[in-house]
Amino acid sequence: MIVAGQLLLEDETTPGLARLAPGLVRVEDGVISELVEGEIPQAFDLGGPGCLVSPGFVDTHLHLPQFDMIGAHGLPLLEWLSGVTFPSEAKWADADYAAAMTGRVAEQLLSVGTTSLCAYSSVHHAATAAAIETLTKAGLRGVVGQAMSDRFAPDGLVGATAELLDQTADLLHRFPAGGRVAAAVTPRFAVSCTAELLAGAGRLAAEHPRALVQTHLSETVPECELIGELYNGASYVDVYDAAGLVTDRTLLGHGIHLSPAERATLQQAGAVIAHCPTANSFLRSGAMDRHTTITAGVRTSLGTDIGAGYERSMVRVGRAMIETAAALGADYPAAAHAWWQITAGNADAAGFTDAGRLSVGAPADLVVIEPNQPWLTSPVDPLAMLMFAWDDRWVRQTLVRGEIAYRAA
Ligand code: GUN
Ligand code: ZN
Repeated sequence: MIVAGQLLLEDETTPGLARLAPGLVRVEDGVISELVEGEIPQAFDLGGPGCLVSPGFVDTHLHLPQFDMIGAHGLPLLEWLSGVTFPSEAKWADADYAAAMTGRVAEQLLSVGTTSLCAYSSVHHAATAAAIETLTKAGLRGVVGQAMSDRFAPDGLVGATAELLDQTADLLHRFPAGGRVAAAVTPRFAVSCTAELLAGAGRLAAEHPRALVQTHLSETVPECELIGELYNGASYVDVYDAAGLVTDRTLLGHGIHLSPAERATLQQAGAVIAHCPTANSFLRSGAMDRHTTITAGVRTSLGTDIGAGYERSMVRVGRAMIETAAALGADYPAAAHAWWQITAGNADAAGFTDAGRLSVGAPADLVVIEPNQPWLTSPVDPLAMLMFAWDDRWVRQTLVRGEIAYRAA
């Protein structure tokens, strides 16, 4: 199959930027077998001269059980968790329900061009396995973690410490790193995890050196104050670091309210902050200072954080990243950077070497986008115009491993 159009490629001369070039992607046996830059061929199967051909988007932070409660507005984090989030996640006690819901989530993600993800499940073991199997069947790529909590949440949403760790160990064994969808070590956050659970999670991370680790970090001020009370005044990052959870394969959601010392620890470890700008404004958690974070040498990625985040589309989250940075004033990333971030940048942050790029030998996870306005002849940077004028209906097809998994009506 030949997919033709303006290809979204990495700018080799300026790392961290995407660029456009006319050309074609040839797909054979689910893999990109050839990439030709230069001109758009006369004959092709998908795409065309007015189309953008992008690698599938990578979402590095989202919660599968929260898709049906997107938009529950008005509460700060801890009240939002107790009031609307935990009741929604309780439904995942039923693994069949979780499987069916994950199928609907996969459809939604593919319809907005997301093909790779770093996801949280609920606290439920069977539901987490069902979610991994469902995402695998749908063709997505990524990780899912059983969101471990042994306190703070109501009955039914907390587990016994040792049992939770055994369950995650079981998932790591059944769905190892390297598979299309793998298990991740996922203590929910230090508020809902005892020090014993965090330490056990750290041991699992050490025993499974290729498994990703995900948790939440310093999202709101009241949460950080609670951490101080629960952990004898230790800093949030030190709590995770003491448990062995701050590694170069750790994705920490939010990371808004951090001290320079905490950023230094993250930088030394090579840990990643998964920036979730839409969720941060939705819960009024604060504006994450990405410029200061990056200047401190901390790696960052970008995520929807559904359902605190209200945008399914990584393009819109890329736009929110630009807008948040603009509001803070120090830094105004270009759209070419945001396009890179939601593709290759996020893939690098998650360690997905087989995602986020149009490269020969990679699985053909592609998005064919057909804007309904003359973007290429615009006097404005076409990548900026695409990002700011974005309309989900422009996604014509999403391919996973060379198969059309979503096709616009
Ligand atoms: N902190 C702990 N759990 C969650 C969650 O589900 N969403 C967000 N945004 N923050 C959290
Ligand atoms: Zn989250």
